Order: sequence, then C-alpha cells, then structure tokens
Amino acid sequence: MEIRNYTIGLSPMDGITDAAFRLTQVEIAKPDLMFTEFVSAEGIAHNAIRLFDQLLYSPKERPIIGQLFGKDPDSFYIATIVLCHLGFDGIDINMGCPAKKVTQHGSGIALIENPELAGKIILATKKGIADYQNNPKVFNKLKLKQKVISLLSKRGQGEIENKKIGFSIKTRTGINNSVVSTWIPFLCSFKPDSITLHGRTLKQGYSGLANWDEIAKAAIICHDSNIKIFGNGDLQSRQMANEYCQKYGTDGALIGRATMGNPWVFDNKNVSFKEKYQAMLIHARHFTKIFPHRCFDPLRHHFLLYVSGHPNASALRQQIVKLTSIDQLCALEQSIVG
Ligand SMILES: Cc1cc2nc3c(=O)[nH]c(=O)nc-3n(C[C@H](O)[C@H](O)[C@H](O)COP(=O)(O)O)c2cc1C
Repeated sequence: MEIRNYTIGLSPMDGITDAAFRLTQVEIAKPDLMFTEFVSAEGIAHNAIRLFDQLLYSPKERPIIGQLFGKDPDSFYIATIVLCHLGFDGIDINMGCPAKKVTQHGSGIALIENPELAGKIILATKKGIADYQNNPKVFNKLKLKQKVISLLSKRGQGEIENKKIGFSIKTRTGINNSVVSTWIPFLCSFKPDSITLHGRTLKQGYSGLANWDEIAKAAIICHDSNIKIFGNGDLQSRQMANEYCQKYGTDGALIGRATMGNPWVFDNKNVSFKEKYQAMLIHARHFTKIFPHRCFDPLRHHFLLYVSGHPNASALRQQIVKLTSIDQLCALEQSIVG
C-alpha cells in the first residue's frame, strides 16, 4: 500500500528545542511544523525577562508555534497577545507535561483533572488571539514593564497583516488510565484548530510504549468535530511517522526524542560521523550567536547525543564533557570524523 505524506512536525522539548536547535534542524531537514519549548504564561505576564530567550525564533522556522503552560487564565490572555505580537503562527497550550515542578502547581497534565480551569484557560487564550486579530494595538494596553516593551520592540518579526493565528492544545491520554473518550470531546467542544495527543498517561511518564490505539480513538472523535489531530509518541523517522498517521488515522504527527543528536530524522537519512560533526558545528555556531550570554553547557548534552553509536564513543564522551568553546570542538574533528 502506498504511504501518503502527512504533516510531520518537531515536538516541543524543554531544554532541548531552543532556537539554535530548531535553526539547525531547519537547515539540515526542515520539519513541516515547529514549536517553541513550553514557556510559563504567568512568567510572561509578570515580565520575567529571561523567559523571552525561549521565544526567540527565525522566520525560516515558519510555521512556528509558541507553546504556553500555566494555570492562570488572565496570564494566558496576556501571554497570548505577547506571542501574537511576536509574530508566532499559532499558540499551543500544554496540557500534557508530567513534570512535578509543573503539575504540583496545577499546570500541564494536572489540568485533565480540573476541566473547569482548563476551559477558562482555553477561552482566555482564544480571546487573546481574537482580540489581537481584531486590533493588534491591544498589545499596547497590556501594561507590561518598559524593559519588556523595549526588548519586544527590538524583535523584528512582528505583525503580518491578516495572518490567521492558529490555536491548539497538546495533551496526554490521561492521569492513571486513558480518559480519551471524555477528555478529547471536552477539548473539541472549544473548537481548537488541532490537538496533539501523546499516547501515554501521566503514570506512564516516558515508560512503556505510547498507546496508538488510544490515539486512533481520539482521531475519530476529533474528525467528528472537524478538528485536526497529530499523534505523538515513539516515532523514529518521518517514514515511520507517515506510516503511523495512515494506520491510526491522524492528520499528522510530532517527533520528539528521536531528533536529539539526529536532525536527519525528517529526511529518513542515515549519515556518517563526518556529517554529524558538521551538524555539531552548525548547532554550536547558532547557539553561540543566538545566546551569546549563555555558557556552553547545554551544547555538551547535544554533542553527547550526536556521537552516540560512535566506535570511540566513550573516549569522545570524556572529551566532550570538558568542551567550553567552538575552537575546542574544532580540535576534536579528527577524533570524531576519523
Ligand atoms: C526533555 C523533554 C522535554 C519536553 N518538553 C516538553 C515541552 O516543553 N512541551 C511539551 O508539550 N512536551 C514536552 N515534552 C514531550 C515531547 O514533546 C513528546 O510529547 C514526548 O517526548 C513523546 O514524543 P517522542 O516519543 O517522539 O519523544 C518533552 C519531552 C522531553 C523528553
């Protein structure tokens, strides 16, 4: 049977899919859709200037969706307008994060157990998008601090006239057991443009396998309401993602962990360590240019993943954990490329 081409995107990953990672991904094998890491709606609404690093992006990434998490509807309203002002193509609400630091405050996946609040957050976000599309000058009424306004005024990607800004939700199948049959119709009742479903419960964390049968059930529910659905969980390549979309009836899929140290996932390509080394250099150059004030630490984590499977991986790992500059990475070329 011939497999169709579906919309296959890069899944958001906090601490991983920052602007440097995504730009590297774009230049090597562009996904059809990308998301920022999740950003706190309350943090943005309260002028937490350091969070704005997570909202950096290049127009080459389009379509690029800004993802928010939190529990305060008023903050979602403000943060949504800020993201619209920054020119994002869509706003996504995180209702799937299982991390304790997020769920203990009632955000992320905890919202599955608090549908009343989830509904208020969705309505506040939709109102933010509608108000901005109606009149972008609503941004000027937000009463943000001057330091944030000056920072945002330096960001060039701003308004694109009459652009439709999408609205979506990313979630999991449930807390202890799947509640797809009640949770997904509830989300659909708010008419998002799309829903992404990671086929695991909170209890599962990242263990076991994603349950794609539950994703298939959710796909039927979404399609009955004319809403698009992206499946997510354990996909290893664009080809596998296309096959799963066809088999489980989704409109597309997101790939997360398989992209770490392997941006060729979206090209279905196996590459040599020479190409991997070139990608490490591209990634490092983007990182140091985009985040000149940040130290090299987050990059070392990526480099360890790029060299996984290398015949000298353990010796290389010992050198990589000490890297502090691009020059030192250049000195490793021979050891990596061979
Ligand atoms: C390190 C890490 C960080 C993540 N951060 C986010 C996040 O910020 N927002 C989100 O919606 N999901 C986040 N996720 C979940 C992924 O987007 C994805 O749903 C999950 O990893 C399953 O897909 P995969 O099997 O393709 O990795 C994160 C996952 C990982 C491993």
